[in-house]
Amino acid sequence: MKFLRKKLNKKMVDLSKIDRRKFISKAGSGAALVMGWPILSSCDNSNRSKGSTEATKSFEPDIDLELTAVQSRMAILPGSETNVWHFQGRLIKGDENVLEEVEGSYLGPTIKVRKGQKIRIRFTNSLPEETIVHWHGMHVPEEYDGHPKDVIETGETYVYEFEILNRAGTYWYHPHPHGRTGPQVYNGLAGLLLVTDEEEQSLNLPAQEFDVPVVIQDRSFDNDNQLVYVESRRDRMRGFLGSQILVNGNANQTLDLKAGCSYRLRLLNGSNSRIFKLGWSDGRKVTVFGVDGSLLNEPKNLPYLMLGPAKRVDVWLDLTDISQGAELTMENQSFPLVEAMSGGMMGGEMMNGDESSLPQGSVYDVFKIKISSNGSNRYKLPDKLAGDNYLKASDAIYATNPRQFTFAMSHMEWTINGRTWETTGVSEEEKVKLNTTEVWELINENGEMMMGSEGHPNDDSEGRGMMGNGGMMNRDEMGRGGMGNRMQMAHPIHLHQLQFNVLEYIVDDVDPELWDAVKDGFIKEGWHDTVLLMPGMRVKIIMRFENFKGLFLYHCHNLEHEDMGMMRNFLIN
Ligand code: C2O
Ligand code: CU
Ligand code: CU
Repeated sequence: MKFLRKKLNKKMVDLSKIDRRKFISKAGSGAALVMGWPILSSCDNSNRSKGSTEATKSFEPDIDLELTAVQSRMAILPGSETNVWHFQGRLIKGDENVLEEVEGSYLGPTIKVRKGQKIRIRFTNSLPEETIVHWHGMHVPEEYDGHPKDVIETGETYVYEFEILNRAGTYWYHPHPHGRTGPQVYNGLAGLLLVTDEEEQSLNLPAQEFDVPVVIQDRSFDNDNQLVYVESRRDRMRGFLGSQILVNGNANQTLDLKAGCSYRLRLLNGSNSRIFKLGWSDGRKVTVFGVDGSLLNEPKNLPYLMLGPAKRVDVWLDLTDISQGAELTMENQSFPLVEAMSGGMMGGEMMNGDESSLPQGSVYDVFKIKISSNGSNRYKLPDKLAGDNYLKASDAIYATNPRQFTFAMSHMEWTINGRTWETTGVSEEEKVKLNTTEVWELINENGEMMMGSEGHPNDDSEGRGMMGNGGMMNRDEMGRGGMGNRMQMAHPIHLHQLQFNVLEYIVDDVDPELWDAVKDGFIKEGWHDTVLLMPGMRVKIIMRFENFKGLFLYHCHNLEHEDMGMMRNFLIN
């Protein structure tokens, strides 16, 4: 543990140099922040007017690459090709293994880096609309985080230059323009960013063909094999649910693995809003040894695993006791999350995606493991993985009185503490200090409160219920017992810029039937950047603000909720 801390300090010294340069190059941005970002371009006439449009001479990258978002066509289903959007990569400098194409997939190339490396990514937008790329889970300066204020137009290029400071983990990249993240990711814009470090390397974990990415996404196609996105406002309110599962961009949800071998499966739920409860068909435990931004201290065996949107998990799969020809399926198990809205515009409709052939929480196959050949490898799952270095509540300011952020619907809008998206807006309660540790309490307001007139706890205005009480069912009519009339919506909450630890899941207000069906699939250990809040759930997380000041996002990673404004800034100053 001492060793780790020392290394970290050394990194911070290196960083301060980088920081200073950035600070000078962006002098005046402090004032711009107060007045609104557009000012920046008029008071800075270097060609860095809008973030970074050129490579910096003094930055010496270990890896230099081009990434271009393009329109393309791919064969996904038999018959017509599908129009997709796609990240294309080209390596300019660095080891040839840095970029790995996902064969025949709309997914962008997997980018493989090591902690401590410096990377430059020249991102060009060749889409017919504005966009920007975000490195989900990565600890980078504000200007390289892919904030919606930094979107570039068609034909423009944005240059990212940063040092990899993250621990070993499975990160990913995707667009982040406001209001269009859902459709852009849905069209195919996403890729993995894998970070390794010395600690991970010393563990001799499965590598190459035994280190298998499993990106899970749901999609719907029309009769001509074209992607169909949410059509109604009602569907957007709930979030997109597709009618079939794709794995690594493939409609064939099968991984061909070898008997006699052990595997690292890197699961990413890259769906816009679908939540998975994953369990193996033969009843074996799901062995988890990593999550979002770290390996776990030690592996955990779970009966099933809850995987909300944007979340990553490392699963160990031991096929040494299985024979050639066998099949193993990762199934979605059922859970009673009835995503419903009622009254007013919604007309009391269920929103569970019952029109989809795969309603949220229903039973279906997610992917299959086909074991068509024999092999052998010597990989053993270590009992101890990462060092024990979690943050302690005793080191946090306001630990007993944490900042609270409530995610709820208000006046038919998705809100955070009653507010909705503002490009550079940041309220007092969203300002934190560099070099402090804080506990935040994230609250998914119980769905029932959307109905009543109780309103938001921090709210002083009246009529805060979803639409007031006119013409709506009352609490008794809604009841809590019957499946048909509960009001529930999950929110997968994500913070940019950092990885946090989970201190506590508070579930007193979660429907007991729902909690009972999902509780064994939640992981507390490890470093996370996204946490799934079931309806009524509260989560206490602890985080440290380090290295970079600036404006960063926190939001619901149900991409339709995000696009509808369930996203805010926090400011580290
Ligand atoms: Cu993966 Cu702000 O997002
Ligand atoms: Cu992110
Ligand atoms: Cu949400």
